[in-house]
Amino acid sequence: MIPDEQVEQILHAADIVAIIGEHVKIKKTGSVYRGPCPFHQGTNNNFSVVPGKGYTCFVCGEKGSVFTFVQKRLGMSFVEAVKYVGEKSGIEVKEVQRTREGPDPREPVWELNGTASAWFRDLLWDNDLGASARNYLAQRGLKKETADRFGIGFAPRELGLMRSYLNGLGFDDARLMTVGLLVQREDQLEPRPRFRDRLIFPIADATGHTVGFGGRLIGPGEPKYLNSSESETFSKGKLLYNMHQARSAIRREERVVVVEGYFDVVRLVEGGIECVVAPMGTALTEEQADALQRLTKNVFLLYDADGPGQKASFRAAELLLKRGMSVRVATLPEGDDPDTFVQKHGGPAMEKLLSAAMDVFDRKVQLLERSGWFADLQRKRRALDALLPTIRGTTDPLTRDLYVARLSEAAGVERSVLVQEMNAASAADARRARVSTPMATPREIARATVPAPRPAGPYRGSTPESAAERSLVRLVLAAPEAADSVHERLSRMEEEGGHHPDIDEVSGPGNGALRDPVYRAIFDAVLMQDGVLDLEGLAESLEPQAIAVVEELMAEAGEVGDQAVAVDAAISVLSARLLSDRIADIERMTPLASDEEKGSLNMQKRTLIAELVRVDPRAGWKLGRRGPT
Ligand code: UTP
Ligand code: MN
Repeated sequence: MIPDEQVEQILHAADIVAIIGEHVKIKKTGSVYRGPCPFHQGTNNNFSVVPGKGYTCFVCGEKGSVFTFVQKRLGMSFVEAVKYVGEKSGIEVKEVQRTREGPDPREPVWELNGTASAWFRDLLWDNDLGASARNYLAQRGLKKETADRFGIGFAPRELGLMRSYLNGLGFDDARLMTVGLLVQREDQLEPRPRFRDRLIFPIADATGHTVGFGGRLIGPGEPKYLNSSESETFSKGKLLYNMHQARSAIRREERVVVVEGYFDVVRLVEGGIECVVAPMGTALTEEQADALQRLTKNVFLLYDADGPGQKASFRAAELLLKRGMSVRVATLPEGDDPDTFVQKHGGPAMEKLLSAAMDVFDRKVQLLERSGWFADLQRKRRALDALLPTIRGTTDPLTRDLYVARLSEAAGVERSVLVQEMNAASAADARRARVSTPMATPREIARATVPAPRPAGPYRGSTPESAAERSLVRLVLAAPEAADSVHERLSRMEEEGGHHPDIDEVSGPGNGALRDPVYRAIFDAVLMQDGVLDLEGLAESLEPQAIAVVEELMAEAGEVGDQAVAVDAAISVLSARLLSDRIADIERMTPLASDEEKGSLNMQKRTLIAELVRVDPRAGWKLGRRGPT
């Protein structure tokens, strides 16, 4: 037997026109293909093939999917047909044995989770201990009927209840710990429940097995939500909350609404919108995007209206556009999430909001337009850099054309200029290459464009800029009291370079003075500490990789010589990099400029070159070859 998901994937990937075209002479007429029917041996073009859908004969009534065609024409079984089509579509078919040797190894986990789930539910509704949680639900205005559709339950604060109940049914502690319902901490004698005083959202996999739980505190405290720990059976990145129940609605309505939270899902369903799923506190993954793609092409992203929500929705959109999907973002009023919105205004108002959703690219353009990013040449250049990668990452050709047209109109830049940029090396490559312009040789650019894997050992880049970043970070670790003044100098440099943090939301990380994410994180963390180094505090706020680099740098602290001189030297290098970038920016702006503007660009460029030569005299001769544009 072939898993359903794979059958769907193949159906989606198959080029039905090409496959049927091998057996029937079909010709394109309008949006469909027509030819003589192979089933009743017709001679007129009564047989039609619809790309992405299936085939029909108007005379004999024969119709079906690409699989049915292959089955009937080539006399194959369904499984054989799926394999045949899979092969033609570049998908390797993995058949699973219908008759397993014994049960699925995950069966015991599902069984235990299912039993625990029922216990949580009973406790919520039929036990005095559930009173506070029932109150909580009433306060949030969630109906019992809705809660039951999701199997919502309650895990009490009490320590031994769940354990003794489940032990009594023959689930021993070891098993409870394996699935993460009990946790044994070193400093405690007895294992304790992972979920305490939390509303419980059972999480099902695509086939409906309970694979884990999400728990929301009903009182104050942290973390607000706790999920089952990651395991082979519960992997957040592969699951979407409510996928199991939403699947048929998504198919039927040919759309999916993606929200951020459990409550958002529950509330939308209560409001009559069933085609809704949510990732669980993490950014949308490739696997989740694949799962959506198998069901529909139309995605509505309904994320919080705040900065992080917007950023997360744009990031999710990139994954979906890459798959040729249509992505719209719905914008909630400031301060609402989907849950509060539906609670206040109802399901029909939410439908309205969804029907007003904008194509994600239009939304980006709109955001930039509103804050004046197409007003002058320099900002325009940055706006194009921020938007072009989205177009480039869009695989559907019609959508791409539409995006180019939209951007051309918004920015007042000829389509041909945009198309040319699109076809050139990607903006990210250009940006990385710029790091070493104007001194770079073609070989250096090539090296910068394809980042070499970092060798094991110390975290150390090979460029002078990377060395400068490293030495600044080492310096502020050795002399944290200097962090403020270094920060001020770096910020001033960035401001002079026209660095605008607000565009980061649309374009991803910008081009500041410190660019290495690890050095940047350490620097920011030291800066937060008000002049006195607190290593423990640092360790808490940094990722493991950054902590390792802090340790390296602390060990090197002895090498620090005259601090003022070292700071000046590092800042010169970084300043030269920013200046080089600005010169390169001007060169890239030139194609967008009018003749008048070109004159002013040339003047700016001359000033910048003079400044660059002052900061970094070595840059002088290398620039000699680059006259004004
Ligand atoms: P939010 O913080 O937006 O909460 O987290 P929410 O969904 O609006 O929850 P309520 O309305 O306050 O109850 C969105 C999602 O991120 C995950 C959860 O999946 C949550 O639904 N999350 C959030 C966590 O996993 N852990 C947390 O501490 C917080
Ligand atoms: Mn909420």
